[in-house]
Amino acid sequence: MQHFIVIGNPISHSKSPDIHHAFADSLGKSIRYSREFCPDNFDSFCAVVSAFFHGGGTGANVTLPFKEMAFKLCQDTGMLSDHAKAAGAVNTLSMQDGKLYGDNTDGRGLVSDLQSQGINLQDKTVAIIGAGGATRGAILPLIEQGAKLHIFNRTLSKATSLVADFKSSADTLCAYELSKLSTGTHHFDVIINATSATTHSQTLALSQSLSADFAYDMMYGKPSEFLEHFKQRGAKLSDGYGMLIHQAALSFALWTNCQVSQSTLERLSNQ
Ligand code: ATR
Repeated sequence: MQHFIVIGNPISHSKSPDIHHAFADSLGKSIRYSREFCPDNFDSFCAVVSAFFHGGGTGANVTLPFKEMAFKLCQDTGMLSDHAKAAGAVNTLSMQDGKLYGDNTDGRGLVSDLQSQGINLQDKTVAIIGAGGATRGAILPLIEQGAKLHIFNRTLSKATSLVADFKSSADTLCAYELSKLSTGTHHFDVIINATSATTHSQTLALSQSLSADFAYDMMYGKPSEFLEHFKQRGAKLSDGYGMLIHQAALSFALWTNCQVSQSTLERLSNQ
C-alpha cells in the first residue's frame, strides 16, 4: 500500500490525511496517509524526509514552517519544478529517478479552484493583496492563465521586488501600495486577499467604491471582513477551502497518476 505523509509543526490540525483518504476512497484505492510532526530546524526536517523515503514512502506534503526548507533541500540535493522555483517554496515531495523532486501545487490549486467556480482568467484583471509567500506562489500559475496582475501591499517595496522577480514572464504585472485601494473608485474582475489579515482578525482599509465580480480570500474557517465588503457590493465570493482541496488533488495526481473527479473535488470543497 502506498504511504504518504504531511510534515509540519504544528501538525495535529492538518486536514490533509482526511482529504487524501477521501480522494483514494473515491477512486477505490487503499492508501496510508499520516501526519508527521518535525522539530523546527533544517537538520530534523532533512532526517524526517530521508527516513520516510528510505522507508519506502511514496510522497510527502510539506506545510508550515518547512516549505522553504524543503525548497533548499531539493535545491541542494534534488530537483525542483518550475512552479517550485517560482514560488521559492515546496509543498510536495516525491522521488523521481532516485532523486528528491520538489513541486509546489498551492498556486495551481488556487487557479484550479477559481476555474472550477466558472472563472476563466484569460485577459482578466486580477488584484492580489499581499506580497508574502502566498502571493509569490500564485503569480506564475495566474500568469500562465493569461491574467493581468495588480499586486497591492502595505509595504510597497515587497510588492515591487516580487514584480521585479517575475518581470521576464509577464509585462502585465504591476505593484502598488495597498493604500491606493482605500480611496477612489476601482473595479477588478477578480480580487484575492493573500494577506494574513483575516487569520489575525484584522481589517484591510478598503474604499467604499472598491468592487469586483469575484472576491477570493485565501483563508478559510474564519469570518472574513474582506469577503463581507465585496458581498455588500454584489460580488461572487469564495474562501480558500477549495484551494486546499485542489492543491491536494494536484499532489495526489503527481504521486499516483490518478485524477480526482470534478464531482469529488466539488463535494469536498463544499463540505
Ligand atoms: P504568507 O507566507 O502567508 O504570504 P507572510 O509572508 O507573512 O505570509 O506575508 C503576509 C502578507 O500579509 C504581507 O504581504 C503583509 O504585508 P506587509 O508586507 O506589509 O507586512 C500582509 N499583511 C498582514 N497583515 C496585514 C494587515 N493587517 N494589513 C495589510 N497587510 C497585511
